Amino acid sequence: MEITALGHAGLKFQVAQSTLLIDPWFSPEGAFLASWFQFPENQHLLCPDLLQPTAIIITHEHLDHLDTWFLNQVPTHIPVVIPDYPSPQLQNKILVAGNRPIHIIKAWTPWKIAEQIQVFLVPEESPMNHDAAVVVELGNRVILNLNDARLSTPQLHQICNQLGKPIDVLALQGAGASWFPLCYHYPPEQQQTLSKRKRLVKLNYMMRAIAAVNPVMVLPFAGPPCFLDPELSQFNQEMESGIFPDQQQVVAWLREQGIENALVMLPGDRWNLEHQTQSYDPQWKDFEFGAHRSYLQAYASRRENIIASFKENYPVPQTSLWQNFKAYFEHLLSLSPYFNQQIGMKVGFEIEGPGGGQWAVDFRPSSQGVFQKIEDCAYRYRFSSRWLVPLLEGKLTWEDFFLSLRFSAWRNPDQYNDHLLGLLKFAEPMALQAVEKYETTLSSQEMITVQSGGKTFQVQRYCPHAGQDLLHVGEVLPGDIICCLGHHYEFDLTTGKCLTGNCPSLHVVRTT
Ligand code: FES
Repeated sequence: MEITALGHAGLKFQVAQSTLLIDPWFSPEGAFLASWFQFPENQHLLCPDLLQPTAIIITHEHLDHLDTWFLNQVPTHIPVVIPDYPSPQLQNKILVAGNRPIHIIKAWTPWKIAEQIQVFLVPEESPMNHDAAVVVELGNRVILNLNDARLSTPQLHQICNQLGKPIDVLALQGAGASWFPLCYHYPPEQQQTLSKRKRLVKLNYMMRAIAAVNPVMVLPFAGPPCFLDPELSQFNQEMESGIFPDQQQVVAWLREQGIENALVMLPGDRWNLEHQTQSYDPQWKDFEFGAHRSYLQAYASRRENIIASFKENYPVPQTSLWQNFKAYFEHLLSLSPYFNQQIGMKVGFEIEGPGGGQWAVDFRPSSQGVFQKIEDCAYRYRFSSRWLVPLLEGKLTWEDFFLSLRFSAWRNPDQYNDHLLGLLKFAEPMALQAVEKYETTLSSQEMITVQSGGKTFQVQRYCPHAGQDLLHVGEVLPGDIICCLGHHYEFDLTTGKCLTGNCPSLHVVRTT
């Protein structure tokens, strides 16, 4: 009974003759427009046996988890198991790699994969994020694979209660999967500070999850990515102190916090659940995390031709994209008055190169429309016209594009606009309605008492962003601010106003 690391978030579970794969990512083109690549490389694991699993679980639609190149190598009778999200996007993306059985599993419902393999899936609470944890019961052993999902502490406790036995391995993401702050216009020093802070936020979440489930072993995985296109190679610096720490750094940090039971597993390394022993893939005999610069140089030259021919598939357009842009965003504006109102600003698009222009989309109900003038925008994106073509044709999702880091952005006020990303990434009524329903029915009735600097406040218990319980994840900061550790939105305790994002206010009353 063992787990094999497949690289990045890929894991293989084996018991007797049955094999389950979760999120295998092997594409030689990497992911997100050939920008992310597996670190370190995992191609040596591709063999006929790996392509004949009993089943594959795909946790969510990010392309470093859903690899259609890999699925194309797997016989079409092998089923894929996915969470039940309020949108068919994940299912549709899997079908691109050919027709095969897809089992859509309801949250918390056990699903038998084989004689000694059973799973259940736990999506994040808010339908704004389509991420889900996988609980794998392998014989009498249990693995909780959080991958990119940020489950709340009550959800983690509920998993432990549902299992009624210890968790043998907790696998969770140690490096970020984000374009913030890397693609935003900040002075270099501020950029570094924000990046370090984001790294710490991710590591602190790991600590909370570890404390909540108290696993026998911890496995940091699902990153970091590396960047082999010379246009993006500056982002490899993020491994050093920014948002993409490597596995060894994460384990070292956890050790400093007193967590001694964390593992570094490279692609091909195996963990025996019964004997609690690790077997090392000889491939990594001479590998050193500290020497990643020379490793990446050689890796980049092995992928140079692949990246060049990938880009040739996205030629710059020869005619103006304005009419297509206008039609695309007019349709988007018609999908959800609720989202338009929540976005509540004008967004500019500076499309560089042939076919491009300076265009804007105004989401404010009183001035809504798509325009050829870009002034007065509170948010701006800048990128090459070659990427706008697949975005407008629906061949590339906005979130996959943003994760490619092949753009830059500017915003004023400097606040995260969750609904802007939500509208762009879902762009279909069912998923948008699920978010609207969830957010408009969040209870603001129940209040908790919060002390700050000698003052007392009654505060709405559930965060207005995505409903996490502030009793567990509310941290009071200097200056009468409460930070929701769910996604780090900060609220002014005296007014309830959200200070860091485009989010409804928190219901607050000062009592003393
Ligand atoms: S639930 Fe997202 S910040 Fe609170």
